[in-house]
Amino acid sequence: MSTSSRRARPAAVTTTLSVTPLVGRAAEQSTLSAALADADAGRGRTLFVVGESGIGKTHLVSAVAEQASHRGFTVAVGRAYPVESGVPYSVFSDALLPLLRTVEPSVLTLLTRGGTAELMQLFPALDAGRGPASPPRGDPTELKARLLWNFSQFLSRFAAKRPMLIVLENLQWADSASLEMLHFVARQVSNDRILVIGTHNDPDHRGGAGLRNTEQSLRGLGNAQRLRLGPLPVTAVTELLARTFDADANRTHNFAERLHRWTAGNPFFIDETIKALVEQGQLRQGPGGWAGWDVEDLRVPSTIREAVLVRLADLSTDARRLADIAAAMGTRATHDQLAAVSGLERDALITAIDELRGADVLTEREDARDIVYDFSHPLLQETLYSELGLARTRTLHGTIAESLERLYGARAIEHAGELAFHYARGDTRRLASKAVEYLRAAGRDASAKYANREAGDYLTAALSIAEQNEGGAGAELIAELARVRQRLGDYPGASELWQSALDTAREAGDVRRVATIERSIGLARYWSGDFAEALTHYDRATEAAREAGDRLLEARVLIAKASGLQAVGKSEESRHEVERALEIASEIGDDALLARVHRSLLLLYLWAGPAEKAIESGRMAISLAESSGQRSVAWSAHWGLAVLAGLTGKAEEVRRHLHEAHRLADELHSPLFHAWTSEIEIEYLAGIGDWDQGVAVAERTIAMARTLGQRTLLPRVLVWAGLLYFGRGDVEGGKACVDEAWELASNDPSMANRDVFSTVPAHTGKAAYHLTMGHYADAIRVGEHGLKIAERSGYVVWAIHRLMPIVAEASLWANDLKRVMSLSKRMRRESTALNQLLGLAWADACDALVEMLHGDKQKAVSLLQGAVEALEAIPYVPDAARVRRQLARALAETGDREGATRELRRAHEVFAHLGAERELDGTREQLRELGARPPTRSVTQGIAGLTGRELEIVRLVAARRSNKEIGSALGISARTASTHLSNIFSKLGVESRGELADLAREAGLLDVSP
Ligand SMILES: Nc1ncnc2c1ncn2[C@@H]1O[C@H](COP(=O)(O)OP(=O)(O)OP(=O)(O)O)[C@@H](O)[C@H]1O
Ligand SMILES: [Mg+2]
Repeated sequence: MSTSSRRARPAAVTTTLSVTPLVGRAAEQSTLSAALADADAGRGRTLFVVGESGIGKTHLVSAVAEQASHRGFTVAVGRAYPVESGVPYSVFSDALLPLLRTVEPSVLTLLTRGGTAELMQLFPALDAGRGPASPPRGDPTELKARLLWNFSQFLSRFAAKRPMLIVLENLQWADSASLEMLHFVARQVSNDRILVIGTHNDPDHRGGAGLRNTEQSLRGLGNAQRLRLGPLPVTAVTELLARTFDADANRTHNFAERLHRWTAGNPFFIDETIKALVEQGQLRQGPGGWAGWDVEDLRVPSTIREAVLVRLADLSTDARRLADIAAAMGTRATHDQLAAVSGLERDALITAIDELRGADVLTEREDARDIVYDFSHPLLQETLYSELGLARTRTLHGTIAESLERLYGARAIEHAGELAFHYARGDTRRLASKAVEYLRAAGRDASAKYANREAGDYLTAALSIAEQNEGGAGAELIAELARVRQRLGDYPGASELWQSALDTAREAGDVRRVATIERSIGLARYWSGDFAEALTHYDRATEAAREAGDRLLEARVLIAKASGLQAVGKSEESRHEVERALEIASEIGDDALLARVHRSLLLLYLWAGPAEKAIESGRMAISLAESSGQRSVAWSAHWGLAVLAGLTGKAEEVRRHLHEAHRLADELHSPLFHAWTSEIEIEYLAGIGDWDQGVAVAERTIAMARTLGQRTLLPRVLVWAGLLYFGRGDVEGGKACVDEAWELASNDPSMANRDVFSTVPAHTGKAAYHLTMGHYADAIRVGEHGLKIAERSGYVVWAIHRLMPIVAEASLWANDLKRVMSLSKRMRRESTALNQLLGLAWADACDALVEMLHGDKQKAVSLLQGAVEALEAIPYVPDAARVRRQLARALAETGDREGATRELRRAHEVFAHLGAERELDGTREQLRELGARPPTRSVTQGIAGLTGRELEIVRLVAARRSNKEIGSALGISARTASTHLSNIFSKLGVESRGELADLAREAGLLDVSP
């Protein structure tokens, strides 16, 4: 004890909170223990412990943390501080850095699956010495998703070995990036051995909207619960006195009641009041123990603030000044920092620190090589800070800023956030340029971590200080801020800034900058759906780039312009622009740029045809992207080629490109790229009839799309999942999916102009529902509406893929001849352009009905047979079986009852294999109508799951016939035979013709005559 004026205190009053008794929280403790047990058992969750300042959150949570340690949990505690509310991910970094530093780099690599770079981007301090890494380039939403996803995956793997408790304290001061991360993590932990506890003192959410939104959203989603701490009951106060002072409850009873009333049961207030009473000698140690309980007129402070001030009144000048400095620093401070800012001599500093520790104002601990001090309670810091007065506050912040900058020396820029905080609060006239410098650096740093809100705040502050003090800000700063606003979705705000940057650049005669800015404005307009406006800016950008002689920039603008043109359905003009970009790129020989150009061409031809051009561009894009290290370009080219291969019926190619796309997504640690790739995979699996796997992938992808907030992908995947559910006869499950997709696609105003990607699939889902229910008129109505939207936008693929076939099938069942004829024409025309075999096959099926009604039944039958054949070869096994049902109708009409029965039995086999309950019902009904007995419903497996044509092929393969021979034997092309064969391979899980022959022999397939 440093001051002689201090009297004796009971042991517990001066010790740290972990040994102070915990009273009156039995119920809360058991809730938290249960949560720990749950987490231990792999049922992770998130709890918010909330209540007013001093109510005992930290105390309670410390007790849980101790319990967790005993149970073998890894415990990570992070705190938020007012100073760091702008430093991205600071709460998480505070919690996890000490832990991460103890993990071997090789283990870290293992746990992050090679994504250590992403982790370092979040927590640069992990990578001390290497300086800020250059952020990866690309779509910011995609990159941000990568960061958050990889972090939560890392936590999950980390906790797999040993359960984990993560405590995030004082969230009322948390930076918004940390809150976003908390939201992300909390949604992921339900199957992990992780308990997350967040505390804050703002139960009614009067403060920031960020915390409110985070907590409310998580609670609304059922991902988090709240534990609200109320005042201690009077019995707890009595118990506290008994345990602290070893005093008899009968003697302290009245005192406890008065104290309870006085402090409204706030334990911090109780604590401070007791300390003040001891301080003042009202409570004193006598021969028979502590005395003074009977004081009638308790002279106690009336507010928490007063109680604190009473305690601080006795501090020596040095100690008080040091406490003020620590309060203004606003966060934990190291010994060196306190020395640098206070300017106190070594001994004087130690004396002052001792005094503050003795008075329980500061606590100390060792952290790595530093000694770190923190206030024993945030209320002390707040009270001291609010007592400072404006002038002293400003001076102190200025001193802190300058001293710390000197202390950090060459590495000052790594502390930009902290320095910016103090410079901005110092004397803004004198320190303006420093403030702007560090605010900008902090903004850039936040940008690199995709902490856009923080970046926006920093840069806005920089801009306003710069404008007030330097007579205007540079075009570069304005442009930086505009980019961030744009990422935040604030397009009007971004545009306004761009305009002002543009004026500055024009005045300075900097045409290159004008071009860059015009391009950025164009992109902003494009993303807000204002395509026409975007195109105007792209044109200006092209002009300026040309004037500046910057060919590379010109080409980049042209690529952007091409997407804009494509978005408004001007495919021809779009192609023209990409070709100009291609010329420039070839001329300057920039492979990275060339890769992008070819990728644009691929996407262009993909959606509008011709297919061969798309393939050619895709191949070029991939090889150039590989040679120039553009992995995300390579990924998107594989993605595009997988889509194309699916449309044009090349199963082997689909598989290959999906495999490559997943591999690249892995390498890039990109959950979004995985999700997008999976979307195609679902369609592929649906096509080949592997519905179990299709549903599994769909469910996984839906979960991921939800987590990542993918507003266009989610509705689409929901629809594809819905179609699978309908197929299986799970109408309710399917309806839930398509209804949600419908809701998402139609209720999002920000999607108004680029909704074709989700709106058309949403219509597809709804139409499919009606078709399933046999509401043909509704299916046609909804479907036609969707077709109109697809047509208007120029993305015909969306119309032909799934939607037109659904409308066509509904029209077939409804015998709507006129519509069938017109649909057939449309499907044939557009499918031919895109080489889309699904559309062509359905067009044949439509024409068949027309022939039928015109009396040429034989022709109808042969058209339908052709369609079945084509669909099986793509493969669209389920569609093939559906057309078989139409074929059976036609055969029955011609009087070929036997043929009809045969087709229905084959369809039956496929539907049984798929588990397609409704189709199975319909097929059985048709069989009964023909007077045939339906086979058993049981789902067949293995060889039995092959279609009739596939069985024929298996027999021929077993007879060692080549594809060409098989083709001529069955009247199909060798290519078609080979496609069938690869489907058979994947269905049966065999890899060679020999293996297949063996399997066929074992199954006794060769004994049966065909
Ligand atoms: N249940 C309890 N029994 C005994 N003492 C308690 C209890 N709860 C809190 N205290 C004491 O009251 C003081 C304030 O508690 P604590 O720091 O946990 O409050 P808090 O809710 O975390 O406040 P803040 O929001 O300001 O951080 C501490 O000194 C602690 O020792
Ligand atoms: Mg606390």
